[in-house]
Amino acid sequence: MKQALTALAALAATALGACTQQRQPGTDVEQRIDSLMAQMTIEEKVALCHAQSKFTSPGVPRLGVPELHYSDGPHGVRAEINWDDWGYAGWSNDSCTAFPALTALASTFNPELSFAYGDALGEESLYRGKDVILGPGVNIYRTPLNGRNFEYMGEDPYLASVMVVPYVKGVQRHGVATSVKHFALNNQELWRGHINVEVSDRALREIYLPAFRAAVVEGGAWTVMGAYNKLRGQHCCHNELLINKILKGEWAFDGAVITDWGGAHDTREAALNGLDIEMGSWTNGLTSSMALAYDNYYLARPYLDALRKGELPMSTLDDKVRRILRLMFRTSMSRRTHGIMGGARHSATARAVANEGIVLLKNSGGFFPLDTTTQMTIAVIGQNATRCMTLSGGSSELKARYEVSPLDGIRAQFPQARVVYSMGYAGGPSAYGREIPSPLDADSLLQAAVETARTADVVIFVGGLNKSHLQDCEAGDRVSLGLPFGQDRLIGELKAANPRLGVVLVSGNAVAMPWVDSVDGIVQAWYLGSEAGHAIADVLSGRVNPSGKLPISFPVALTDVGAHSFGPIAYPGDSINEKYLEDILVGYRWHDTRNIRPLFAFGHGLSYTTFALTDISLQSAQCTAAQTIRLTARLTNTGSRSGAEVVQVYVGKPDSKVTRAAKELKAFGKYRLDAGQSATVSIELPAERLAYFDEGSQQWTVEPGAYDIMVGTASDNIADTLRVDIR
Ligand code: BGC
Repeated sequence: MKQALTALAALAATALGACTQQRQPGTDVEQRIDSLMAQMTIEEKVALCHAQSKFTSPGVPRLGVPELHYSDGPHGVRAEINWDDWGYAGWSNDSCTAFPALTALASTFNPELSFAYGDALGEESLYRGKDVILGPGVNIYRTPLNGRNFEYMGEDPYLASVMVVPYVKGVQRHGVATSVKHFALNNQELWRGHINVEVSDRALREIYLPAFRAAVVEGGAWTVMGAYNKLRGQHCCHNELLINKILKGEWAFDGAVITDWGGAHDTREAALNGLDIEMGSWTNGLTSSMALAYDNYYLARPYLDALRKGELPMSTLDDKVRRILRLMFRTSMSRRTHGIMGGARHSATARAVANEGIVLLKNSGGFFPLDTTTQMTIAVIGQNATRCMTLSGGSSELKARYEVSPLDGIRAQFPQARVVYSMGYAGGPSAYGREIPSPLDADSLLQAAVETARTADVVIFVGGLNKSHLQDCEAGDRVSLGLPFGQDRLIGELKAANPRLGVVLVSGNAVAMPWVDSVDGIVQAWYLGSEAGHAIADVLSGRVNPSGKLPISFPVALTDVGAHSFGPIAYPGDSINEKYLEDILVGYRWHDTRNIRPLFAFGHGLSYTTFALTDISLQSAQCTAAQTIRLTARLTNTGSRSGAEVVQVYVGKPDSKVTRAAKELKAFGKYRLDAGQSATVSIELPAERLAYFDEGSQQWTVEPGAYDIMVGTASDNIADTLRVDIR
């Protein structure tokens, strides 16, 4: 048996341990910072703390300190933006490899692939002259309506933590900083600029912060991006609790905090509460006094004036400057190579992540894979089979060097088949921030698709969401869980016209599936970037055996979601405040604790082979909070082709003195086995992972007593439950 490493990821993984060492600040670097600071004027120091263009902040030209260059993030290096406004610069040398969206990366449950992803992205960032890449995003998936869920790593804090760390290390080993975003609680786009989140300490610590902590403490992230929203009455970009107390205090973060673009609102708070770099204020084009606009930033002249008058302590400035110079020594002033753009290796990484990220949700009667050797007619229906998905969606959109559409991918891998296409529905022109209805006649599109489907041997519907406003797109949330543009009706009509119907969903969010029982197969394909079509066709044709697992729950209805169970104050809020009343019970934690059956559960994902998980046992049924729970199991590939399975370990605490979720993911491992092969799997679970955050003592606490250790291959497919006693 071997861990499910692609050869590619294995290569990259060898560098994992050595990642950031040479760029950790030593006394040498700190002395050089001292020396630079001693030579800098107060004006030069303040200048470092704010933008000089949309995506750069200044250096100290007189002392040879270079400016910092930033780029979105998080799925590739964004095309160049104009110096002073949001328009694209129109360069012809600024395209990139589009990597799969982070939901797809999370679905791989494969940290080695996350490292390979970060590694390739770091190389491309460097090639494009970037010092800071604005990602990864690890806001927790709280509601399927959040327009930006596709940029994040799902609903589980442990999974997101495990997956974010290698990404950070992979990027930063190239001397390019990550900016882990959006810190914190930016769990919706609606009213993101001002909504005030009220959340308990437990939910904050147990659900919303762990992935940020992992990125900083384990991954060594060099920058963190503040969120637009407020927490407990204070904007997150200069939030005393989040930045000073937790990030820079408890987590000892020694890097720089950057605003989200336009996320600063107050000079005094920004100065005192740990904001280091202000970006994107006056984001609407700097219409008045262009030359001086950057000087008017909260951390520009107003800050300088307050420092000069003694209204704000000089120590705040020195701390910011030290952190910014440290960031520069790690990036622009470090010894680094020139990077790599594109090429077969980056395409292979994108395809490997896409392959492992695709989740086979349903497969009745072995509908998938489709036979590539017969001369059948395949009707591909649906706009997402041809629509460019690397554009749109907001700041994460990319100018991809190429993008293989699902239709082209299918045509390439079914050379014997006659592949016919009909659009079926129209999702409207791509738009960010605007809803543009399609001018096409929906009924005619539907009729044409039904006719195309009727005579085919098999129908593959490729639909889902797209990246237009109110779909999977920044600056707005979806308006319902249902598929838009009449797709439910279309799927029903297709089924009536042709009984052999498979569905491929391209989306970054869960959708309702009133037709779930009537279709033969369902593939969740996320947004897969440059290699999308190839990766989808790999799975449809069986060239790749799917092994992705859902990093989110698919609810049957919105009312089954914790955040939607307490009225509008819990989501989307009353436009001023929002209360996270479901508390720690987010995603499957809510479903399982309240006995609500999801449509597809967190951790679910089928394979073209079958696995048996047996002989699950604990090395010891007792341990202390400081020890590690060790368990073994026998995993057998009982089917006829090789494949990979994710063994998932969930924990529950019966009779806890605090509210607990019925189960929480606390460990997992992904294993590849040949047909018929069997292996013993060992998983370690440090007992400290069983801790809850005690609000009284403000400490992580492992409650003594009995815990249920549930081992399975999905949150709703537990093979065995064992008891462990923590003394
Ligand atoms: C987004 C960030 C992004 C920034 C710069 C903001 O609107 O929220 O995620 O990095 O713009 O484009």
